[in-house]
Amino acid sequence: MFSRPVARAALAAQKRAFSSTVRASEKVAVLGAGGGIGQPLSLLLKLDPHVTSLSLYDIRGAPGVAADVSHIDTPSTVKGYAADQLDAALEGAKVIVIPAGVPRKPGMTRDDLFNTNASIVRDLAAAIARVSPEACVCVISNPVNSTVPIVAETFKKAGVYDPRRVFGVTTLDVVRAARFLSEITSADPKDAVVTVVGGHSGATIVPLLSQTQYGKGVAGETYEKIVHRIQFGGDEVVKAKDGAGSATLSMAYAGAKFANAVLRGLKGEAGVVTPTFVKSPLFADQGVEYFSSNVELGPNGVEKIHPLGPLTAEEEKLLAACLPDLKKNIEKGVQFVNQTA
Ligand code: NAI
Repeated sequence: MFSRPVARAALAAQKRAFSSTVRASEKVAVLGAGGGIGQPLSLLLKLDPHVTSLSLYDIRGAPGVAADVSHIDTPSTVKGYAADQLDAALEGAKVIVIPAGVPRKPGMTRDDLFNTNASIVRDLAAAIARVSPEACVCVISNPVNSTVPIVAETFKKAGVYDPRRVFGVTTLDVVRAARFLSEITSADPKDAVVTVVGGHSGATIVPLLSQTQYGKGVAGETYEKIVHRIQFGGDEVVKAKDGAGSATLSMAYAGAKFANAVLRGLKGEAGVVTPTFVKSPLFADQGVEYFSSNVELGPNGVEKIHPLGPLTAEEEKLLAACLPDLKKNIEKGVQFVNQTA
């Protein structure tokens, strides 16, 4: 038998082990898991060691995706849920990623998706408000500039809105910016990280190239071209897919990267900072209530919203073009929820 002090120490160690297991338990739900983004996103989340349990929901196909992904030899468990099992899918989720909805076809803007995706996102948000209001919600469904306010307004109606836990996923713009900048400077993309602020569509996407070592020297026509490419890079994919949808694989990568940042923040890792579209004070005085800028993530979601920092005259111009469009997109989302029952 153990002596008393040894027994106490053993008990304490056991308790520590137990509590660290409990703390480490992170259920992530993907809503729209059967889709073009949802499938590879589920695959990448299965590879993330921060995810202990993966809950895959879609109105079609999620149980099949779950059965497939569940055979991968990483520790997390995976379960698929059919159309009528949304509440069970959401139960206990800490992070919920939403790629549900229709994607663009050639010639469409993200705003053209509003009519279909607004009600999908609103209805999913209403279920989250009911079942797992404490979860961090990461919205991928477009138009992000409007779907994030839709989630927020739906939560407000249900009395559960916490602005620290609703995020628009703009990571693909950041991923593209680093890649495109690396192509013109020969830098490794990991050293060519660009802070992209504003919103997530066309002119609302504002890359702050001047704030990076490799971007600050880019000027003239090369600057115009890369800014346009970062703002409209999604169109390259829509065109190349020729009617079969928009970015799915790069978006899944970006979505998994963002979910990983949120999970690391929740676990208390210090210094997790990334651009994301959140309720923000930065331009609220101009009526722009949501804005993407560098955000520090922590145990409660948004910990700190960073200011933009110094901008060049060109970046000031991009920002001036962004704000009115963004304001309209946000108002459209807010009105949608408040006009419908
Ligand atoms: P997809 O059509 O391949 O997949 C969408 C999935 O959503 C389908 O499996 C569908 O069954 C499911 N779905 C529809 N209604 C649902 C509901 N009520 N509940 C649960 N699932 C539902 O489309 P894809 O390519 O995966 O795109 C999804 C969304 O992501 C689109 O809105 C697209 O515009 C957006 N997107 C966002 C990006 C970003 O950077 N934030 C980048 C690329 C796409």
